[in-house]
Amino acid sequence: MKKTKSRGYLGSFVKSSIPDFGVSIFANAVCTLCTTVLPLIISFAIDSVVGNEPVSSGYEGFANALGGIAFIKSNLWIMAVLIAVIAVVNAAFTFVNNYFNRSGNEKMVICMREKLFSHVQRLPLSRGAMNSTGDIIQRCTSDITILSNFISNQLINLLRIIITIAVSMVFMFLLNPVLAGVSCALIVVIVAVSAIFRAVMEKRFKMCDEQEGVLSACAQENLTGVRVVRAFGRERYERDKFEKQNEYYTGLWKKTGVVTAMYWSSTEFLNTVQFLVLMITGTVLCINGTLSAGGFVAFLSYNALLITPLRELGRIISNMSRAGVALGRINEVISVPAEELGEYEGRLSGDIEFKNVSFSFGEGDVLKDVSFKVKEGSVLGVIGGTGSGKSTLAALLSRLYEPTAGDIYIGGRNVKDIPLATLRGNIGLVMQDGYVYSRTVGENIAIASEGAESGDVIGAAKTACVHGAIEGFANGYDTVVGERGVTLSGGQRQRLALARTLLRGTPYFVFDDSLSAVDNETDASIRENLKEKFGGATVIIISHRVTTVMDADEIIVLEDGKIAERGNSARLVANGGIYARIYEMQTALPEELREAERE
Ligand SMILES: Nc1ncnc2c1ncn2[C@@H]1O[C@H](COP(=O)(O)OP(=O)(O)OP(=O)(O)O)[C@@H](O)[C@H]1O
Ligand SMILES: [Mg+2]
Repeated sequence: MKKTKSRGYLGSFVKSSIPDFGVSIFANAVCTLCTTVLPLIISFAIDSVVGNEPVSSGYEGFANALGGIAFIKSNLWIMAVLIAVIAVVNAAFTFVNNYFNRSGNEKMVICMREKLFSHVQRLPLSRGAMNSTGDIIQRCTSDITILSNFISNQLINLLRIIITIAVSMVFMFLLNPVLAGVSCALIVVIVAVSAIFRAVMEKRFKMCDEQEGVLSACAQENLTGVRVVRAFGRERYERDKFEKQNEYYTGLWKKTGVVTAMYWSSTEFLNTVQFLVLMITGTVLCINGTLSAGGFVAFLSYNALLITPLRELGRIISNMSRAGVALGRINEVISVPAEELGEYEGRLSGDIEFKNVSFSFGEGDVLKDVSFKVKEGSVLGVIGGTGSGKSTLAALLSRLYEPTAGDIYIGGRNVKDIPLATLRGNIGLVMQDGYVYSRTVGENIAIASEGAESGDVIGAAKTACVHGAIEGFANGYDTVVGERGVTLSGGQRQRLALARTLLRGTPYFVFDDSLSAVDNETDASIRENLKEKFGGATVIIISHRVTTVMDADEIIVLEDGKIAERGNSARLVANGGIYARIYEMQTALPEELREAERE
């Protein structure tokens, strides 16, 4: 089942390259015919043109076509020209073969990368998170290279190899069945030895590929987290960790190299033994008069022609396992069903409602039986300790994950029934870790809103209180932000992410701790701006900070995935529960400050 599916994917990758590969295979076949016909001509030349053997029945038509044996004997150049013509045809078709093979390969690689990349982008988060970035990168790059090289360098040659082997075998049996039988018996031994090595190499290559993924994940994580590594003085630890992994990976390749070397040397040895046995048997047959000198030369030529394709066949078989591993790894990604985005159906309206929602990442519930309602146009504040499930709540609303139990409704419609394009197009979610792209500040804000005017971008930046900071940059809105926004402060990055979401002007907003790195005063002015500009929007505002949520129409306090308290700020303070405690802690001035104020 899995195999058939992989082949199905392979078919879709190769589809656009079929015409090129078709031409390549045809040209390859012509080249093969050229090489397999040569020994016959040489045998004819030795026995009947240079020697005086009578023309055998198989060659009669050929000799007559060239003007009869007497004519050829007096015009030896005919044989030279014939061989030269074959060589030229061979060269021309070799060129055609290589050209179309390369172009087919390029088309296939582009197709594979595009398919894989666009699929990775649409993978559900719950599944996408299972692989590290380095691992995904390896699948999108080196696995594709392994697979495409195998197809264009080897699989396409399969026809040539089969033709060469078949034609050579047929002629060998026609030339002398006894000698052909001896040759074949030894070939069986060579193929069996190759098959044993193949099984060992398959295992080794798989291990190497897996470790390459671990190594690139290690390097990638290090580069991304370079600031943390430096700040904590972990360079040495990280370098040692990388070196250890690198050494292990290199060691694996060394071991694989030993097996590969053993494979080549043993087959080389067996080939020589086979040649020796043939030489002795052939010489005996020639002395007995059962084989002509020309026939023996032709036989040895065919035997030599056989050796390379047989080796290639061995290589194809061993590489097939490597390519099979690569295809399997690509298949693993591509067979995970991608999210179906559906159509954007326009603006949604109505209340948001969570009904008995529970969620688990695998072990233990992160959210437990959570129910609440946010009336259209109202603001819900969500407050709670670290790990209490606040971000998970936001992710469930946008269907980044699906609830394990319960349902979520918008305007009475179950979010499961709303196409993702519509759902996500209506919810402006500002994530906790505002991601900043390596582009200009302006592009970073406009990235999610196609065709946004610069006036709108500036408007959104002003609402998010980041306009002033941007103006302060050397190139204003055209300032390029470094990788992952390292040149921006945490607060600037958060406000940039906020402006990006505000620009979309969605009817629903979810701010997931999106102003945690902004000072209280700026936080207050942003909330003031939001009220002014987006007064009609339905807002869920998640925060650790009481001041951020205290103006909300309703506040829910999450504790350990459950709603511990709910109500407006005044009521919650009066209740004297968790909220009241947090309120007390965060709003009360330290005793010394109060005393200082009194003085
Ligand atoms: N992708 C994930 N896989 C497994 N567990 C996860 C994943 N994301 C979050 N969790 C776990 O789920 C729980 C809730 O996480 P969540 O991010 O919702 O908390 P939070 O309330 O937003 O915390 P914070 O205030 O620190 O942002 C935590 O225990 C966390 O470890
Ligand atoms: Mg969170």
